[in-house]
Amino acid sequence: IETALAEGPLTGRRILVTSGPTHEPIDPVRYIANRSSGAQGTALARALTSMGADVVFVTGPADADRPVGAHVVEVETAAEMLEAVQVVLPVDAAIFAAAVADWRVATASDSKIKKQAGALPSLDFAENPDILATVSQMTEGRPPLVVGFAAETDDVIANATAKRLRKGCDWIVANDVRPETGIMGGSENTVTLISDEGAEHWPRMGKSEVAHHLAERIAKQLG
Ligand code: CTP
Ligand code: CA
Repeated sequence: IETALAEGPLTGRRILVTSGPTHEPIDPVRYIANRSSGAQGTALARALTSMGADVVFVTGPADADRPVGAHVVEVETAAEMLEAVQVVLPVDAAIFAAAVADWRVATASDSKIKKQAGALPSLDFAENPDILATVSQMTEGRPPLVVGFAAETDDVIANATAKRLRKGCDWIVANDVRPETGIMGGSENTVTLISDEGAEHWPRMGKSEVAHHLAERIAKQLG
């Protein structure tokens, strides 16, 4: 079934959105992951689609419903997410809302590790590729607009500002995810949009409202 694309300010624009966590296997039944519902990424994909964009949604194993009208690519690990992203390029804008695991288990076991009383397993980790930094720093075919997210618990603006410069993306959407804010897993978000023009604080609003505001900014930026 072909889904007719909505007409709007993003008609003809191809936009990548990453979303959800990644799962890094320990063995066939266990994994390590970041906490992520995928709600903000999904809301963003929906908002962009409703404004006419051709959205490719690369998602890890998240609970959130998949965005209708977007082209959905399902992955499990960070390595798979990077590979999928590279296949999707070139795009007009790339939004990295995924909560990518920073580390993977260096040598995942092919068979289930059995529990033995008193014997604790030890895991060796390897660093995962930084997908946002990789795309931000492309010398050829870099998307004209690259947007990252920064979920922080301390010094939100300072950390997110440093992150933007370190990774080389154009914008960072920063938020405070201390448990008492109720943002992780909740339906609302309080974000600050950080660009080369500084930090713009947005009031607390629903994740779908954040998505619509961000989609409007993206449309304005792409012209
Ligand atoms: N990101 C990514 N690939 C990774 C890690 C992060 O693409 N391997 C992206 C996320 O999707 C997000 C941004 O980078 O858009 C920031 O992620 P974050 O975890 O906050 O940054 P890190 O550099 O991993 O720093 P830390 O976890 O130490 O705060
Ligand atoms: Ca991280």
